[in-house]
Amino acid sequence: VSPEIGQMLEAHELLRKFYHHLLVNTKDGQHALEYLLNRGFTMESIDKFQIGYSLNSWDFVYKFLTKRKFPEEVIEKAGLIIRREKDGQFFDRFRDRIMFPIFDRNGQTIAFSGRSLGANEPKYLNSPETVIFNKSKILYNFHLARPHIKKFQQAILFEGFADVIAADRAGVENGVATMGTSLTDEHVSALKRNVQSITICYDSDHAGIEAAQRAGEMLSAAGCQIRVALMPDGMDPDDYIKEFGKEKFRKEVIDASVTFMAFKLLYYRRGKRLHDEGDRLLYIEEVLAEISKLDNAVEKDHYLRQLANEFSLSLEALNEQQRQVSFAEK
Ligand code: UTP
Ligand code: MN
Ligand code: MN
Ligand code: MN
Ligand code: MN
Repeated sequence: VSPEIGQMLEAHELLRKFYHHLLVNTKDGQHALEYLLNRGFTMESIDKFQIGYSLNSWDFVYKFLTKRKFPEEVIEKAGLIIRREKDGQFFDRFRDRIMFPIFDRNGQTIAFSGRSLGANEPKYLNSPETVIFNKSKILYNFHLARPHIKKFQQAILFEGFADVIAADRAGVENGVATMGTSLTDEHVSALKRNVQSITICYDSDHAGIEAAQRAGEMLSAAGCQIRVALMPDGMDPDDYIKEFGKEKFRKEVIDASVTFMAFKLLYYRRGKRLHDEGDRLLYIEEVLAEISKLDNAVEKDHYLRQLANEFSLSLEALNEQQRQVSFAEK
């Protein structure tokens, strides 16, 4: 480890502890703590995830770290302060935000994500890419989730930090999330190295459903067994747990997850009116294309029969069509 990287890591450690202290023990952090408790965060999870609060100040971090002899350039390269173009003055990147430390797989703090308390944009402000923080590699909570992932041979993939933390509170401790980016090949290989079975539990909104479809395709292509956990329209796991409780989340969302194929059938149904002939034919075509990609003959037969039954089609016609689709794709 170069001295510069050592200093960056040390600066993050110091700030993580101080932000946490500000949130939990000070009057300055009281409104932030109230915000979290109102949202259903518990003191236990605030402690476990070392959540903190950054002061509403332009130079708190700058002073805090320079006083401790951290060089300005190092603090800037670590993404903690920003140099203003016009006069070269430094100012703090994170101000008046709930601070989520981002840990690497060894549990070292390498970045932060700060959530605004009000309507301030962006909702989540992340550390920039630095020599110690590579967004396309990091999975939030991987260091804590890993033993549970290994033990249950199962990982849950969420969209956001709040979802990982809420799920943890509900006893689902094998959850990880990407950092606001979509899933990358690097994330896929990191997961693949540790686990075969992955349950995707993204937000039940348009963006989340599209992202779940894409993530499912990437992970299946890498050879993972995928299931998808579904929630009522518009909800995310954190909302769901707050509204319906831990037990219902475990039983009716996680344990009730569906196979990736079943999810795709629902996915292709969205926005279609299946009593309309055009929509119906399109749906059948999309489903046949998916069936033709299956390499298990029994599964193929199962979904073909299901489709034949639902639309009162002959199995022979569907089989024939499916062979043509699969031939055309090769
Ligand atoms: P969401 O918009 O679903 O946020 O974005 P959320 O996790 O439900 O957050 P709350 O409940 O409103 O607090 C999902 C993820 O996308 C990233 C974050 O990682 C977030 O957890 N994101 C979102 C950003 O990086 N920046 C943003 O401005 C918004
Ligand atoms: Mn604590
Ligand atoms: Mn979302
Ligand atoms: Mn969400
Ligand atoms: Mn949310």
